[in-house]
Amino acid sequence: MKRLMILSIAGLCSSLSLIAQNTESIPEVEALLSKMTVEEKIGQLNLVTPGGGVATGEVVSRNVEKKIKAGNVGGLFGVSGPEKIRMAQELAVKNSRLGIPLLFGFDIIHGYKTIFPIPLGLASSWDMELIKHTAQIAAKEATADGINWNFSPMVDISRDPRWGRMAEGSGEDPFLGSAIAKAMVKGYQGDDLTASNTMMATVKHFALYGASEAGRDYNSVDMSHLKMFNQYMAPYKAAIDAGVGSVMTSFNDVDGVPATGNKWLLTDVLRNLWGFDGFVVSDYTSLNEMVAHGIGDLQTVSALALNAGLDMDMVGEGFLSTLQKSLAEGKVTEIDITNACRRILEAKYKLGLFDDPYRYIDENRAEKDILTPENRAVAREAVAASAVLLKNDAGVLPISKTAKIALVGPLADNRNNMLGTWAPTGEVKYAVTVREGIANIAPAAIVNYAKGSNIVDDPEMAKKINVFGPRVMISEAFPEELLQEAMAKVENADVVVAVVGEATEMSGEAASRTDIRIPEPQKKLIRALESTGKPLILVLMSGRPLNISEEFEMPISILQVWHPGVEAGNAIADVLFGNYNPSGKLTATWPRSVGQIPIYHSMKNTGRPAGDTKEFQKFRSNYLDLPNTPLLPFGYGLSYTTFEYSALRLSKDEISANEPLEVSVQVKNSGDYDGATVVQLYLRDVVRSITPPKRTLKAFKKVFLKKGEEKTVSITLQPDDLKFYNNRLEFIAEPGVFEVFVGEDSNALLMKSFILR
Ligand code: BGC
Repeated sequence: MKRLMILSIAGLCSSLSLIAQNTESIPEVEALLSKMTVEEKIGQLNLVTPGGGVATGEVVSRNVEKKIKAGNVGGLFGVSGPEKIRMAQELAVKNSRLGIPLLFGFDIIHGYKTIFPIPLGLASSWDMELIKHTAQIAAKEATADGINWNFSPMVDISRDPRWGRMAEGSGEDPFLGSAIAKAMVKGYQGDDLTASNTMMATVKHFALYGASEAGRDYNSVDMSHLKMFNQYMAPYKAAIDAGVGSVMTSFNDVDGVPATGNKWLLTDVLRNLWGFDGFVVSDYTSLNEMVAHGIGDLQTVSALALNAGLDMDMVGEGFLSTLQKSLAEGKVTEIDITNACRRILEAKYKLGLFDDPYRYIDENRAEKDILTPENRAVAREAVAASAVLLKNDAGVLPISKTAKIALVGPLADNRNNMLGTWAPTGEVKYAVTVREGIANIAPAAIVNYAKGSNIVDDPEMAKKINVFGPRVMISEAFPEELLQEAMAKVENADVVVAVVGEATEMSGEAASRTDIRIPEPQKKLIRALESTGKPLILVLMSGRPLNISEEFEMPISILQVWHPGVEAGNAIADVLFGNYNPSGKLTATWPRSVGQIPIYHSMKNTGRPAGDTKEFQKFRSNYLDLPNTPLLPFGYGLSYTTFEYSALRLSKDEISANEPLEVSVQVKNSGDYDGATVVQLYLRDVVRSITPPKRTLKAFKKVFLKKGEEKTVSITLQPDDLKFYNNRLEFIAEPGVFEVFVGEDSNALLMKSFILR
């Protein structure tokens, strides 16, 4: 039986039009709906958190038990462990009138207990199988603790490293972001959502949250539809095409309407254009926040959100407290309430909860499935694969396993900052520090450790960073004493390893920064270390691209390791000592200064491009004080070996629409180590009806080559790769010349062109 959905087409006609959707209705769900009162239906739209997990807003739900029994709750989040979850599920199943099981949600962003690198780090691996595997493990561990619904993947494209939440996404690029979105959804959900080791995923935050103005969290977004569709929307759509079960709205407004109440987004685009048939959940109190946005009182915004297509209200209880009144006043219809409820019940059905509400609750699983050596081994590989070698002057890396090492820096012997932002289920006690990792991997090395500096010296700043635990511990000793202690260790060392950067909560939610340099106390330490002339390696941790212009000028080595997760120290040592040859590539451009932001590889040429000369050119698109180029381009990352790219070939000089194009290139490992490179293909549409970017990423392939080995790498460009959204938002390709660039980063020089007829 096909279900008929009733959609009102606002502004076109006053009558209602019936649109048949391709979704099969589920008899069990329809039977249940027919028994439900309006109050019970509204209850299913209510998502609560009893606290104990992370509260990212000011409100935590009250009287949870009473509400569950009354049928006023559809799901719970922030609760884990079979005991607690069984208790809550029993309350719903045994004590509410209809016994409808609850959803159990959580933010499992980069691992459950086996914490992997932050998503921006994982993205730098450019390894979709590995990323999918980390999501599979996260699902296996989280479901072993009773969770069946995950608030991940976060796929917001961002070109603004001031925004702390860049840590949670995959960076600046929609093509790479789409591949990662798909890998994560498939990893979490598997092929069978009813399996007890898979969980429903949520793509978030719909939409455009990563474009918050000035990089300030929760700030407004205003963007042309052209830019949205060409640069920001693809990863959300990729998650939907991959079958993601739910979508979370974003805090920001889009076209002047907060996303949570934005009908164009939630119905026209999400459901009608993209065919999404899962359910939409708000972000944490984002429904109520429409009051502060200036859209109306709680009743008004709740009705607006339901009518826009929001199905579930996270924490705010705007639906619970006002929808009955709005129904009585004719501001919402029972059909819309029923439709929202149906989508939530369907999700429960798809998870198999109607067959067995306790399907995910197994007291025996945790011990055998969580933090196993196998899972930790994948985490260790993921940390190493995420590491990006930014600089390796004089080939100091890898270092000898018998070296005399001065190990310094406030993150070198620091367990509390290894897991990174959004790891609420992780436990710092399981994290391996860099100091421990070095001892594990190179027991014959002589290591002299000193902290050298605080992460930050300012107690006020430390207080802001320490909201979720002690991340910054300001030493009793004066900064000068810390420095002197470190300098003493350097004297007899062959090499200095300084582990520096951001504390965990210097990025993440509500952690925007206007200055994205390494904090000053650590910069002082780095300057002092560099002045000794000893070989210096910075192991850099952060949740965002940093401005390292000063450090990059120094004759040193820099290994970017993000916030690495539980296996931090072991994997970092693997890379430092050459057990693992780094192959990570940046997925967001690193600026020379915050003044260049937003800066990204797919920028446009402008009518007055600056050209290649070093001389300043008046009346050109440039700056008086800095070049236009970034410090480090998108796709950048070194290896201990070198790769030579040559013989770029296209299968044809001319193709017609709907015809694929074969691209091949010779890649040779010309250095002294086995290693992997990421072959990156960028496309330039030379002339088209809307101004084209100078180049955009369209394909990539990670290949492993033994030292001296050479391979032909082939990539197929599909017809859709030539397409873009035109002025009428049609996804089309226009005939003309295209240039294909292939190489190791977004500055790739090998080029061949072809014509699309
Ligand atoms: C975040 C979401 C998260 C939610 C629930 C919000 O503050 O924006 O990403 O899923 O909290 O924890």
